[in-house]
Amino acid sequence: MENEAKKRNSFTGSIGFVLAAAGSAVGLGNIWRFPYLAARDGGGLFLLIYLILTLTFGFTLLTTEVAIGRKTKQSPLTAYGKLKKHWRPLGIMACIIPMIIMPYYCVIGGWVVKYFLTFLTGSGAQTAEDGYFNAFISDSSSPIGMTIVFLFLTVIIVLGGVDKGIERFSKIVMPALVLLIVVIAIFSINQSYEDVDGTVRTGLQGLKILFVPDVSTLTVESFFTTLMDAMGQLFYSLSVAMGIMIAYGSYMKDDSNLSKSIVQIEVFDTGIALLAGIMIIPAVYVFMGKDGMQAGAGLMFVSLPKVFMQMGRIGGLVGCLFFAMVLFAATTSAVSILEAVVSSFMDQFHCSRKMAVLGEGAIALILGIIVCMGYDNLNFELKIPNNPNARILDIMDYISNNLLMPIVAIGTCILVGWILKPKFIIDEVTKNGEKFGRKGLFIVMIKFVAPVLLGVLLLMAVGII
Ligand code: PHE
Repeated sequence: MENEAKKRNSFTGSIGFVLAAAGSAVGLGNIWRFPYLAARDGGGLFLLIYLILTLTFGFTLLTTEVAIGRKTKQSPLTAYGKLKKHWRPLGIMACIIPMIIMPYYCVIGGWVVKYFLTFLTGSGAQTAEDGYFNAFISDSSSPIGMTIVFLFLTVIIVLGGVDKGIERFSKIVMPALVLLIVVIAIFSINQSYEDVDGTVRTGLQGLKILFVPDVSTLTVESFFTTLMDAMGQLFYSLSVAMGIMIAYGSYMKDDSNLSKSIVQIEVFDTGIALLAGIMIIPAVYVFMGKDGMQAGAGLMFVSLPKVFMQMGRIGGLVGCLFFAMVLFAATTSAVSILEAVVSSFMDQFHCSRKMAVLGEGAIALILGIIVCMGYDNLNFELKIPNNPNARILDIMDYISNNLLMPIVAIGTCILVGWILKPKFIIDEVTKNGEKFGRKGLFIVMIKFVAPVLLGVLLLMAVGII
């Protein structure tokens, strides 16, 4: 046992851990989901609620998972059983979630690779043509090829191990990501456009949509929707409840300051989400008006290419930088998903990293191909709430994000809040004499507020409320 603990990989220090964890947290959710929700749900009001939730709810879940990982030095699959014997099934669920997410995340990663390469080779204008995106994803070979390229990239990084692979990659890519997003955001605010009817729209006006609270349409019901949207977004954005932060926590050094690292991850994730809003909303507003915002894939792969092409000659360059940035964000997230599974396989089956990576890589490849085929000739007639046109990708996303993740998070809150007691986590966080700033808040959140809010989220997902 002792031998095993010695062999366990670790991050070289706090910075490596924080950048890798922030790399996981900052992903497609920050770039395509956050700006859209903020614009739709009342601008500043959404931001305010999101911020409060980050500092309370997000902080509680993130601290808990990282502390569980560092304390047990185990992967998600084995950590819960180590904490309490009968809670092993929760670990199994926490390991199945990244196994479901990995294949379809790689498919979306493949779409990003395709767009990046198209802009890089100077053919970006094609992507702005009507129907381009749908024609591409329903092609029978190209999306599969791109998925393989993305998966291969992820596999190579994770094969390198925790310090020489994941940490080294994050240390290069995360600063580059920040730089790119700041440059594009500044450019975006400075845009303006005169419509056919003579009205001029400017980037600064677009910025108002993001920051000024729109209370004109506020009702009790809309407030509740905003609250739940913000919570769902935060949950996804921080990469909690899918084992990742347990895996990364297990590689954290015992003498690193845990609560300080948590604050840094929160700041990073929220900062990038805000910057993504500053980058996307003004540009879309200037060139497409207020109705240009769309959710999900539509925003990134349909609206934004049109926006880039409206910018004139520089648009090709901006598009290329934008998709490079998205590729960085998606790769560091995919790396963390793969690592959650790989660490589980290694701890459970005592196999080598290479075996674990290749095993999960093969599973992701097969399922990824099936996901790609879902847009072409494999079309199930499965219905999920709020989405009549769900494809295999949407169904996998729904099962993992809307059903399994809240269940794992509620389970974790009950285990820590009521069975092990919050002191278990507090002791781990403060074991080197560090201060635990929001201790009282943590206790109330983990025992009462978080499980109740998560329960509501779960009931909403299954369509009961
Ligand atoms: N947290 C990432 C984001 O905001 C998404 C993600 C999902 C990362 C699943 C890892 C696993 O986009």
